[in-house]
Amino acid sequence: MSTTPDLSVEFAGIPLRNPVLTASGTFGYGVELEPFLDLRRLGGFVAKSLTLEPRHGNPPPRIAETPAGMLNAISLENVGVEAFIEEKLPAVPDGVPVIASVFGTEIELYAEVCKRLTGVPKVAGLEINASCPHVKAGGIEFGQSPDALGRLVRACRQATTLPLVVKLSPNVTSIAEMARVCEGEGASGIAAINTVQALEVDVETRRPMLSNGLGGLSGPAIRPVALRMVWQCAQAVSIPICGVGGISTGEDAVAFLLCGATAIQVGTASYLNPAAAGEVADGIAAYCERHGVASVRELIGALEHS
Ligand SMILES: Cc1cc2nc3c(=O)[nH]c(=O)nc-3n(C[C@H](O)[C@H](O)[C@H](O)COP(=O)(O)O)c2cc1C
Repeated sequence: MSTTPDLSVEFAGIPLRNPVLTASGTFGYGVELEPFLDLRRLGGFVAKSLTLEPRHGNPPPRIAETPAGMLNAISLENVGVEAFIEEKLPAVPDGVPVIASVFGTEIELYAEVCKRLTGVPKVAGLEINASCPHVKAGGIEFGQSPDALGRLVRACRQATTLPLVVKLSPNVTSIAEMARVCEGEGASGIAAINTVQALEVDVETRRPMLSNGLGGLSGPAIRPVALRMVWQCAQAVSIPICGVGGISTGEDAVAFLLCGATAIQVGTASYLNPAAAGEVADGIAAYCERHGVASVRELIGALEHS
């Protein structure tokens, strides 16, 4: 007789009813897609990256379709941390852990946003976006230099008592080294990966597809890259890892858990199907039932390899 599998996990000190979160920037501020998906079906919700002041993004075109993925250079358009706290957060249903994503063009600005979010009801943790590949000042430097990343994590750690997740850039030679730096500076968890820096060209106009030129590639195209990086991080550190990149089914999510992720995030898939994250959670449960797995925690790091 099969029993309902236990999907609960604890990620970075945050109890989650299941391992599925939304990925920053792909699910707005949590309520835009409400008619399609009740957030209470998920483990939690990661909001669009917030800066101290509201911020405009790049001019269009800033999204392009690519084979098995999409390219974006939105460039961190957001309402700013104060408007998020006052206008957006109250609409998020109670009982849904919110992880607020933090961005800044300088270390002090990241730290200030961390401070503002600390103690705010519903905010269960912070995710430091150290990895936006198409913002000229800030993200790319922090995400690509171990020294700058270390200073950033240290400053944010000092600025907040909340669980601190650091979202890493895949645009590095050794993601394991970056994960170790974060762990050394007191990060509570790692999210891997952000988009892969990429370029797409319109040969008719002989111009890049995006106004910004370079963009970030996401979707199924990057899933094997993300899996590889999650696996390498899991070998390198003992803090928990949240897997992100090309997840659109329960099986995709299970692959990340097997590679060592404790939780996962669904991003680009929500553009195709706004209910995707809920379906991923159902898919994990179905996998567990099919394989006689009593608790999803049994899957974490259970990849069999020689
Ligand atoms: C349109 C778009 C906007 C994004 N905005 C952010 C953001 O504000 N902060 C962030 O950390 N990541 C952002 N990302 C990256 C995603 O959170 C995620 O790391 C990446 O897309 C890989 O996951 P996926 O393949 O499931 O989309 C964005 C991605 C997309 C496609």
